[in-house]
Amino acid sequence: MKILVVGSGGREHALCWKLRQSPQLRQLWCAPGNGGTAAIAENVPIKASDIPALARFAETNGTDLTIVGPEAPLCDGIVDAFRARGLRIFGPDRNAARLEGSKVFAKEVMDRLGVPTARSGTFADPAAARDFGHRLGFPHVVKADGLAAGKGAIIAPDAAAADAAIRQIMEEKAFGAAGERVVVEEFLDGEEASLQLLVCGREWVVLPTSQDHKRVGDGDTGPNTGGMGAYSPAPILEGAALAEAENRIVGPLLEGFPSLGIDYRGLLYVGLMIGRGGPKVLEFNCRFGDPETQVLMPRIEGDLATLLLGCSEGHLERSSFALSPKSALCVVAAAPGYPGDYPTGQPISGLDQAAAPDVAIFHAGTRKDGDRIITAGGRVLAVAATGKDLRTARDRAYASISKIHFPGVHYRTDIGARAGINNL
Ligand code: AMP
Ligand code: GLY
Repeated sequence: MKILVVGSGGREHALCWKLRQSPQLRQLWCAPGNGGTAAIAENVPIKASDIPALARFAETNGTDLTIVGPEAPLCDGIVDAFRARGLRIFGPDRNAARLEGSKVFAKEVMDRLGVPTARSGTFADPAAARDFGHRLGFPHVVKADGLAAGKGAIIAPDAAAADAAIRQIMEEKAFGAAGERVVVEEFLDGEEASLQLLVCGREWVVLPTSQDHKRVGDGDTGPNTGGMGAYSPAPILEGAALAEAENRIVGPLLEGFPSLGIDYRGLLYVGLMIGRGGPKVLEFNCRFGDPETQVLMPRIEGDLATLLLGCSEGHLERSSFALSPKSALCVVAAAPGYPGDYPTGQPISGLDQAAAPDVAIFHAGTRKDGDRIITAGGRVLAVAATGKDLRTARDRAYASISKIHFPGVHYRTDIGARAGINNL
């Protein structure tokens, strides 16, 4: 099989790493890729946003399957464009990707299908949004409708903050056209966890549960980031909670999609808040999570290439999927200043020393510079480890990451703490 992976982050490196284990794989490209994918795939200098160039590449090179990492090309219709040319591609089409691309649409779908989520209203008029929020009480959450690079959800503790959020999104257009409408919703208490599903029309496979760490600092302090680490399984979403999420959320959603004209084929990421009232949906993503994929891939046994190819063709190859009983945990090493401004181009050392059994080093913001690997982004790499339990995986990941250096490297020291392993 000849496969093209689209994207350049840790998620895409983890996908390439798993695809490399497939006996079916003959050729692997990553566009544009990073310093890590360069070692296991052929990097192709085409941006993830350049859909026509990607389609031309896939056609010219006879790819059997393209796998899309980031949400932007999916929301922009990369799947529709590829299918129109008869090219196989894994991911939802533009219509189905609206589950991530439009929070208004996601809320409508959940309301129509009776899926538990925060009570909300949708507004194109700032004054009406403000009134509704005041009636909801505080704190509440104001969300830009469209894609906003993960920054479009603002928790407003009081009226002044809510007014500022609405002004910023709707009037100052901080996220451009994404802010033409907002969702204002009640604040949900609880703990967050992620459920990733491989969906093929009315069929689905539940992938390992996981939890990420969004804040930059230990103890969940400091600003939000793209994710500073993750672990799988997420104990909060195992057992009865998972069964409840499947019965009350996954089932109604996937059985109801066809009635709403949604033909979902791809990865569906359901962000959940697990609180006293049971699991409720915070958000959908129409693609693999990052950094959740870095702990998901080491826990999937079987042939990912065959599984994703089948899904793109409309059938789930369940026999190609098995779940490893191992636990996995990853820690992200970030550049100094991240999630604010940060330098790039700094040499990374210790990668060879950090290599160990049961450890995978997934690059994110790195680039190959001759024989060196240098930094090229805010989240530089993630060290993912597996073990018989989360604690073993955690110890392996930290032993390994401590050997990796670049100027100002920082990472959280408490990944997994919420799973209750820190004081063992
Ligand atoms: P979203 O963009 O909808 O995923 O929201 C981003 C983050 O904001 C989530 O991961 C939560 O941490 C937080 N969040 C979003 N909606 C709510 C809510 N209704 N209640 C509490 N926290 C929320
Ligand atoms: N880790 C959250 C996301 O991928 O959006």
